[in-house]
This record gives sequence, C-alpha cells and structure tokens, in this order.
Amino acid sequence: MAMLSSRAVVFLILLAGGVQAGGGTSKCKLSVDNQREKKALSLLEPLTNISFKAQTTDGNDSYTYVLQICDDADGVKDAGVIQKDKSGKTVRIGNYNAAEATAGGDWVMLIYRGGEKYDNHCSNEERKAIILISCNRSVAVGELSMIQEKNEKSLDCFYLFELESSVLCADVQPKLSTGSILLIIGFSCLAVYLIGGFLYQRLVVGAKGVEQFPNYAFWSEIGNLSADGCDFVCRSRGSREEPPTYRGVATEPLEEPEERDDHLLPM
Ligand SMILES: *[C@@H]1O[C@H](CO)[C@@H](O)[C@H](O)[C@H]1NC(C)=O
Ligand SMILES: *[C@@H]1O[C@H](CO)[C@@H](O)[C@H](O)[C@H]1NC(C)=O
Ligand SMILES: *[C@@H]1O[C@H](CO)[C@@H](O)[C@H](O)[C@H]1NC(C)=O
Repeated sequence: MAMLSSRAVVFLILLAGGVQAGGGTSKCKLSVDNQREKKALSLLEPLTNISFKAQTTDGNDSYTYVLQICDDADGVKDAGVIQKDKSGKTVRIGNYNAAEATAGGDWVMLIYRGGEKYDNHCSNEERKAIILISCNRSVAVGELSMIQEKNEKSLDCFYLFELESSVLCADVQPKLSTGSILLIIGFSCLAVYLIGGFLYQRLVVGAKGVEQFPNYAFWSEIGNLSADGCDFVCRSRGSREEPPTYRGVATEPLEEPEERDDHLLPM
C-alpha cells in the first residue's frame, strides 16, 4: 500500500512537471538544444530541488561533493556540482548552464561542463562532471555516489557520479488503476449475483422465464417505481390514461423465453 501511494506521488509529481512547461529543469542550459536532449532533461524533473551529497576519502584527504539538478549546488552560482575539502575550500566541478543530457531505456546521463580549470594536469582543461542517473525500483530517490575522478589523462578528464531513482524506471507492464480494479470487482460481484441467483431460481425455486432472474419481483418493482417516477417528473401533462399494454408488457413475454429455454435444458 505504501509502495502504491509513493508511486502515485511520484506519478503526480511527474504529471505536474510535464504540465508546468519546463519547471525545475528549465534553468539548465543545454549546449546542444534539441528535442532529444530536452526530453532527456525533462525526465529529471522530479529530482530537481534536491541537494545530493557524496563523501570520499583519499588518504588523509576527505571531500564532500554537492550536486543539484539544474540549480545552484550549495548556493554557488551556476554550479551544478561542487567539491569541498576539509578546510571548506570549494572547487567548481561543472555548471548547469553548460549541460548535456542523454537518455536511454531506463537511465539518463547528465554532463556539466565549464568547471574550474585543472592546475597541472589534464592540459589545464576545465573540469567536468558526468552524472549517471539510473532506474532502481526500490528507491524513490537514492544516495549520490562518487565513482571516480579520472584525471590521469592528458585530455578529457572527468568526475563520475552515480545516482539511482525509481523515477527513471519505465513502467513495462501497465498498472491497473484503483478505479478499474473497483470496476472489475463490481462486475464480478454482479456476475456472481446474476448467475448464482439465476441458478438458484431455476434449480431450487423452479422458476421459469423472466422469473428466473434473481429477486425478479424486487427488480421489476424498482423498474416500475422508477418508470412511475420518470412519468411523474418528465411528463408535462398530469393525468394520462393507463395504456392498455401496461400490464401486458410484464406478463406477455413470459411465455416466449420459457419456450426458448426449454431446448436449453440438458434433458
Ligand atoms: C525548493 O526547496 C526550497 C527549500 O529547500 C523551498 O523553499 C522551495 O519552495 C522549493 N521549491 C519547489 C518548487 O518545490
Ligand atoms: C596523515 O596524517 C598523519 C598525521 O596527521 C601523517 O602522519 C601521515 O603521514 C598522513 N598521511 C598521508 C598519506 O598524508
Ligand atoms: C536498488 O537499491 C537498493 C537499496 O539501495 C539496493 O539494495 C539494490 O542493490 C539496488 N538495485 C540495483 C539493481 O542496483
């Protein structure tokens, strides 16, 4: 039940994100501004406005990374990912106004470029962050983890992060909504009532023709009452002659189904 409602909430958030054109992700500026990238970015809508943190230790050094989807990480203007060391020194790893987004079946790869330049490796290029966000049905919003900093190369260095969330999971089998489940239960009950009542009337009570319908008297009474009600409410003229067929309608067809039914008996 809890699972269902959290999914419902995620779904609602997704819907809201879809409706309000470019909500939280609209602050990201895509380097290649095409429809594909926009669509990939929009999948991350439910993850905006969350500050993700990851910790790494390297010998005596420990670093904290802060990631925000399309917003200032740790309040640093334009930075999507920053790194902080023990002393609080902050290094900009990538900017959300130089973003790229690529989507696969159940993942999105987000790249933030334009970070602070490396001092003495990677040909002094700008730092960049690659964030892989993938489907995990068991977590609504997972923990950010820092996979590695690839900086022993002469070019194309990067910081790699990973994040899991159920919002990236493509729903393979369509889920039945509560409404349709209720409808199915309702129809099943109705069917059981009709078939059970029919068999009971036919086999136990020994009724024939329309009388075989369960609670026939009750339902025909209801039918007559609502017909009377309709008559009373809808007719503009008050008094009206009782049509001669009124009684006949209920009794006459009794004969026909009875005859037809008789062939159906297994005997
Ligand atoms: C985003 O989060 C901040 C505080 O963390 C909150 O004040 C703001 O209302 C949130 N915005 C949305 C759109 O949820
Ligand atoms: C870590 O710190 C301790 C004491 O502060 C020092 O003795 C040690 O050499 C340091 N290790 C490294 C790898 O820097
Ligand atoms: C999904 O997340 C749960 C909880 O964090 C973890 O135990 C599980 O291994 C993850 N599944 C995959 C496929 O990564």
